[in-house]
Amino acid sequence: MNILSIETSCDETGIALLKISGGVRAPKVTVLADFVSSQIKIHQPFGGVVPNLAKREHLKNMPILFKRLQAKCKPLKFDIITVTVGPGLEPALWTGITFAQALAKEYKKPLVGANHLEGHLYSFLLPGLAGGRKISFPAVALIVSGGHTILLHMQSFSKWKRIGETRDDAAGEAFDKVARMLKLNYPGGPEIEKLSKDGNGATMVFPRPMIHEKNYDFSFSGLKTSVLYYLRDHEDAAPADVAASFQQAAVDVLVGKTIRAAKATGAKSIILCGGVAANKKLRSELGKAARQINAKFFVPPFKYNLDNGAMIGLAGYMARERKKRYKMVANGNLEI
Ligand code: KG4
Ligand code: ZN
Repeated sequence: MNILSIETSCDETGIALLKISGGVRAPKVTVLADFVSSQIKIHQPFGGVVPNLAKREHLKNMPILFKRLQAKCKPLKFDIITVTVGPGLEPALWTGITFAQALAKEYKKPLVGANHLEGHLYSFLLPGLAGGRKISFPAVALIVSGGHTILLHMQSFSKWKRIGETRDDAAGEAFDKVARMLKLNYPGGPEIEKLSKDGNGATMVFPRPMIHEKNYDFSFSGLKTSVLYYLRDHEDAAPADVAASFQQAAVDVLVGKTIRAAKATGAKSIILCGGVAANKKLRSELGKAARQINAKFFVPPFKYNLDNGAMIGLAGYMARERKKRYKMVANGNLEI
C-alpha cells in the first residue's frame, strides 16, 4: 500500500510517500520520497518555537513540498493519506490537517490520523540501520524529544504500557535550556553535543536526578538548576566542560533508567527514538549497555531522529492496521 503522509506538529514541515506491506507484525517499508523543510532559522532569534510563526511557515511550505513530491513521483499514486493530529502545537497541527483534508477530497482517498509519538516509536523501522534485523519482544522503548521523555514496555508493535515519564522538563527541553544558559543557539541539543567534544564530562559532577529510585520516572529540572547555579558561582567555568558534564549527567540518567526497566521486564530489545536520540553519546552508551544485558538495540538512522513525514506514514499505517482511529482534530496533548 502507498501512503502519503504529512507532519506539521512543531517546526519541521514533512511530506513523504511510503510503500508499506507486511501488516502490524512485520511491517516492511520503502521510502519513495521524503521532504522536510526546517524552520530552525526562523525561530532561532526567539530562542524557541513561536507557534504562530510555525503555522505561517507550514502554510507556506506545504504546497512547495507537495509540488516537489509530485515532481519526483510521477504519476503520484497513493492509497491513503495520513496526517499528524497530535501531540504538538495546535495551530501548527491544524495546518497539516486542513491540507491533508483538501488532498483527501481532491484525490478521493481515505484520511487517517497519526500520533506523532507513535511516529517516533516506529521510526527505527525506516530503511537504514536496522538492516533487516528483527525486533524481539518484549521490548523497552525510550522516547526522548523536545516535549517528551517516556519509557514504554512493549509486548508487541500494537500493545504497550507506559511505565515511566518525566515529572518536569523533557530531556530535549533540558538540553535546550542549558544551551541557552551557555548562550548557544536553538535547538540546544546539537549545540551542546558539538561543544561537549572539546570538554571533559567528568569535570563537574552534576546530580543524576532519580537515578537510584525504584521507578521509571525522570526529572531534569534539578539538573538544569544545578547547572544554572554552577555557572552563577563559577564565572570562569569552561563552557565546553559544563556542556560535557551536563550531557554526561543526562545520558547517565536516561541509560540507567532504561536499563533498569529492561532488566525488570525481561526486555529482549531496547528502542531509542525522538530528537534526543540523535545524540551520539546517548546512542553509543545505551547501545553498549543493551549489549551487556544481551538485548538487541534499535535506533533510527540519523535523518529520521528529528521530526519527518516518513515516520508519520509508518504511524498512520500501523494505527490503521491496529484499528486505532484518531479523531481528525488537532490534539496538542495526545498521549501514547
Ligand atoms: O523529536 P524532535 O525533533 O521534536 C519534538 O517532537 O519535540 O526533538 C527535538 C529535540 C530538541 O529539544 C533538540 O534540542 C533535541 O531534540 N536534540 C538533541 C540533539 N538533536 C536534537 N538533543 C541532544 N543531542 C542532540 N544531538
Ligand atoms: Zn518529534
